[in-house]
Amino acid sequence: MKILAFAGSNSTVSINKQLVTFAASFFAEDEVEILDLNDYDMPIYKRETEIEHGIPQKALDFAAKIDAAQLLLLSTPENNGNFPAVFKNLMDWISRIKNRKIFNGKPMLLMATSDGGRGGASVLEIAEKRFPYDGAEVLETFSLPRFKDNFDQENGILDPEKREELKSKIENIKQNH
Ligand SMILES: Cc1cc2nc3c(=O)[nH]c(=O)nc-3n(C[C@H](O)[C@H](O)[C@H](O)COP(=O)(O)O)c2cc1C
Repeated sequence: MKILAFAGSNSTVSINKQLVTFAASFFAEDEVEILDLNDYDMPIYKRETEIEHGIPQKALDFAAKIDAAQLLLLSTPENNGNFPAVFKNLMDWISRIKNRKIFNGKPMLLMATSDGGRGGASVLEIAEKRFPYDGAEVLETFSLPRFKDNFDQENGILDPEKREELKSKIENIKQNH
């Protein structure tokens, strides 16, 4: 199975990228590509920019990566209860490509983490409700609160219950898809 993993962050030390990379490690038998939004810098969406220059090549490239994947692993940060601007902007540009939805019918493991106790629960709720309209089939959701306490670069998720929860959700995805 071809898997595309990414975080909705442009932080070079993104905790969401660390989480999605950990989740990807459970797919050792699959072909996993992990993208970084820093490699997909593009202007803020503006009507006149689209008319003058068209959709940025990087948005087209990212959409092509989605199209080639059979499963998406995504972890998004929460900024003021919502998507970070960099991720929303990417989705807005991709949504301008004709005859496709942003996630083009792909199944998705949807995650969020933050250092706070709610673990990005607000953005996760927004994404879970919205993404089906954007062409994602959300198979499972997962939230990791208090990232700093619950995650370690070497060992991944430390909290046994949370670790087991992610593992079993991934098992479920593997068995049913
Ligand atoms: C502008 C801004 C708004 C934020 N708002 C929230 C928030 O609403 N909820 C939350 O849990 N964390 C919030 N945070 C903290 C982020 O979750 C934290 O910076 C996290 O590390 C971002 O994820 P990343 O490292 O993957 O980029 C906010 C951070 C910034 C810079």
